[in-house]
Amino acid sequence: MTDQQAILEKARAYVFQELNGEASGHDWWHIHRVTNLALAIGQKEGADLFICELAALLHDIADGKLNETEAIGLQKVHTWLTSNGLEPQDRDHIMDIIQHMSFKGGNQTQTVSTLEGQIVQDADRLDALGAIGIARTMVYSGHTGRPIHDPAMKPRDQLTLEEYRNGQDTAIMHFYEKLLKLKDRMNTTTAKELAQERHQFLETYLEQFYAEWEAER
Ligand code: ADP
Ligand code: NI
Repeated sequence: MTDQQAILEKARAYVFQELNGEASGHDWWHIHRVTNLALAIGQKEGADLFICELAALLHDIADGKLNETEAIGLQKVHTWLTSNGLEPQDRDHIMDIIQHMSFKGGNQTQTVSTLEGQIVQDADRLDALGAIGIARTMVYSGHTGRPIHDPAMKPRDQLTLEEYRNGQDTAIMHFYEKLLKLKDRMNTTTAKELAQERHQFLETYLEQFYAEWEAER
């Protein structure tokens, strides 16, 4: 086994232990899907697959929802990378990706700068789209006690991070406040293509949803 394979093996075990059973949409299977997507996109885009895979595996460990603060979460990842023998250059690259990739209401001015970062961000966003994205939205909504839909509540345009996390919200509003915006925010050509189909599926779902809501179908 190469050093890189050994690190990936350890990262898988570490992340599985941390996120197995997580119910807020950051469970192990989300990590598994994002990692596979990042590798598939990385292959097509000619990226460093070791960085893609390791960043994808670790991308949610520092999340503000799972740690006291995001800074504490990031320190945790930094410590893990250092104590597991990563080259400083690779460690800093991974930290840069994880720190800058989150959506958080869509008002982020910072962007991911490297190809590998763009790919992991694309992969994470793709997992918020399509059939999987709908399932995750419903689970997250239920987890936070939000209703499926309320016709009186309209999607909000500009959200602060506080509003995005804790505001009045329904699952259907989240489609407009995040999911439907993601297609135009993909970085790589490969992800743009994948996003098209997943986006179309959301549109189809909403159309059926409203028809059923009005007892038209
Ligand atoms: P973010 O980085 O935007 O917080 P996460 O990856 O943490 O997104 O969100 C986890 C999952 O929960 C995603 O599928 C996301 O679309 C969904 N989600 C996030 N916020 C909401 C919300 N307010 N209502 C419904 N689903 C949500
Ligand atoms: Ni994620």
